[in-house]
Amino acid sequence: MKPNFLVTYASNTGWTVGVAEAIGKTLAENGAKVDVLPMRAVKDLSPYDAVVAGSAVNGGAWLPEAVQFVRAHQAELKR
Ligand SMILES: Cc1cc2nc3c(=O)[nH]c(=O)nc-3n(C[C@H](O)[C@H](O)[C@H](O)COP(=O)(O)O)c2cc1C
Repeated sequence: MKPNFLVTYASNTGWTVGVAEAIGKTLAENGAKVDVLPMRAVKDLSPYDAVVAGSAVNGGAWLPEAVQFVRAHQAELKR
């Protein structure tokens, strides 16, 4: 069975979306099932075997939405 990947991103002005889509395309070309979604649209990580999470950087830090995403899903991301 194909591994099920989530590539999820936080973006202010859209550049990070393209990065996420490029990562998702490469994973799909290598045999994974892939969803590419903004973090605000992700409620449940249980369908996924692995998660790639990334954020635009603002003032040396991830966007607040991305920090919140990692905190909210910390236990599942550790697995
Ligand atoms: C107010 C502001 C602060 C930024 N701070 C940083 C920073 O500290 N480090 C960095 O590498 N890039 C910084 N950037 C650049 C953005 O991270 C970069 O343009 C990024 O591609 C934006 O992604 P997005 O279009 O997905 O929001 C900053 C941009 C803005 C507008």
